[in-house]
Amino acid sequence: MKPEAAAALPPYFGIDPDAALAALGAPTVTEEFQRIAKACEAGRIDLAGRGLDETGRRQLRMFSTWEITRYLIPVAQAHFRRVLKQNPDLPQGLSETEGGAKWFTLDEVLRLRAFFAAEGSKAKPYLPYRPKGLPAKMLAVANFKGGVGKTSTCAHLAMSAALDGYRVLVIDLDSQGSMTSIFGGRVADEWQTVFPLLARHYATHLRADNQRRLDRGDAPIPMDDTLGEALTIKADSLIQKTHWPNIDLIGAQLNLYWAEFQIPVWRMQSRGWKLWDALTETLAADGILDQYDVIFLDTPPALGYLTINGLAAADILLVPMGASFLEFDSTGRFFDMLHSTFRSIEEGENMAARALGRRELNFEWDAVRTIITRYDGAQQAELAALMQGWMGKTLSPHRQDFTALIGQAGEQVRGIYEADYRDFNRETYARGRETFDETWAAVKALILGSWRRDERAAGQEAAE
Ligand SMILES: Nc1ncnc2c1ncn2[C@@H]1O[C@H](COP(=O)(O)OP(=O)(O)O)[C@@H](O)[C@H]1O
Ligand SMILES: [Mg+2]
Repeated sequence: MKPEAAAALPPYFGIDPDAALAALGAPTVTEEFQRIAKACEAGRIDLAGRGLDETGRRQLRMFSTWEITRYLIPVAQAHFRRVLKQNPDLPQGLSETEGGAKWFTLDEVLRLRAFFAAEGSKAKPYLPYRPKGLPAKMLAVANFKGGVGKTSTCAHLAMSAALDGYRVLVIDLDSQGSMTSIFGGRVADEWQTVFPLLARHYATHLRADNQRRLDRGDAPIPMDDTLGEALTIKADSLIQKTHWPNIDLIGAQLNLYWAEFQIPVWRMQSRGWKLWDALTETLAADGILDQYDVIFLDTPPALGYLTINGLAAADILLVPMGASFLEFDSTGRFFDMLHSTFRSIEEGENMAARALGRRELNFEWDAVRTIITRYDGAQQAELAALMQGWMGKTLSPHRQDFTALIGQAGEQVRGIYEADYRDFNRETYARGRETFDETWAAVKALILGSWRRDERAAGQEAAE
C-alpha cells in the first residue's frame, strides 16, 4: 500500500482517544455560557461599531446621479443635470473629485423626487401610489422555521419602500433583535419594545373588566405597577429614528421574550381580553397608522403570542422559505398551525358571540403569499416548479435569488440597498439588486391592490 492511500482515509478513522482527551478541555459548567455570551457581546460591539460616524450612529451612504436616474427618479441623466442647473435652490450633490460624479443623500433624493413630481411630466410615476385618508398597510413576515430569510426579506422590503418614498415603520417582534441591529436601534429593556403597548391594551381591558366586577359586587383584579405604568405609554415614545430618513423603528431586545410568559398570565386572569387586537388597536389609537404608509413586522421563528399578535395585526402576510424539502415541509406545518391557532381563537370567540347575538369574529388578510428565498436556479429549479404547482397562487412566482452580496455585506449587517455598488463588480451588484427589486415589485403590487380595494369599498360606502 502506498503511503498516500493510508493518508487518504476519511478523517473520522484513527482518532486517538488520549489525544482527543487532551484536546477536550475541562467539562463545561453553566458559568461558561456567560463567558461565551460576553465574548460574543464584545465581538458584536466591535462589528456594530465599524462604519459608525463620530456621534456613534450609523450613517446611510450617498446615492449617485447614475443610481438616482437608473433606480429612483426615472429621468435621463442629461435632463436631471439640466433641471438641477436651472434650479440652484435644489440639492446640487457632492462630488469626490473635481467634475466627478455627483452624490446625494437620501433626504436630498426625496426632495428632488418631490420637485420632479410637482414640476415634471404628470405622466411619469415619480411618486408612489398612496390613497389619501386610508390607514397604513401592515405587512408581517413570518415562518416558524429560522434562517429562511424572514429578517433579510423584511429589511430589504422596508428599504425598498423607503427608496420609493413611502414613510416606513419597522416593528421588530423578535427578541433576537436582528432587525433592530440592521437599523442601528438601541433598546435598553422591554419598555422600549412593543411590550408596553400590549400591556397597555390589557390594562385598558382590565380597567373596564374591573368596573364590571365592581358593579356586580365582585372583587376587582389588582392592577400591578407594570400595568399602571403601561397605561401612560404611547407608541410615539417607543419609535426611534434610524439612519434612513424615512424609516423609523420600534426595536426589540432579549427581554421582549418575557411577553411570551406574561401574555398567557394576563389571558388567564381576564379571559375576555382580546390579545390578538392589542397591536392594531394601540397603534390605531395612537395615530401611528396615519403617520406611516407601510408598516413592516419582523417576527420570531415561533408561533408564540408575539407572532400571533403580529399576524393578526397584519393586512398582508408573507411567508419566506427556501426551495428545499425540509423548508417546504416545515412551511406546510406552519400553515397547519396557523389554521388551528386562528380557528380556535375564532371558535372561542364565536361561541359567546352567537349566544349574545353579536357579530362573529373572522380573521381576514388582504393577501397571504409564500415566497422562495435564497433560490439557486442551478440546483432548485425542479423542486421550485413542483412547489409552484402544489401551492398555486399562494406562492409568489418571483423567486428571490441567493446572492453573495448579502453574505459579503454581512460584516456590517447591511442590506443590498446600503452597499456601495462601487465595492462590487457591476454585474454582481445589478443581479443582486434586481432580485430584491423584484421581491419589492411583487409585494408592492399586493399593497397597491389592497389599497385600491379599500378605496373602492370606501367609495361604495359613500355612494350608498
Ligand atoms: N437572498 C439571499 N441570498 C443569500 N443569503 C441570504 C438571502 N436571504 C437571506 N440570506 C442569509 O440567510 C441567513 C438567514 O437569513 P435571515 O433573514 O436572518 O432568516 P430568518 O430571519 O428567517 O431567521 C442570513 O445569513 C442571511 O444573510
Ligand atoms: Mg429573523
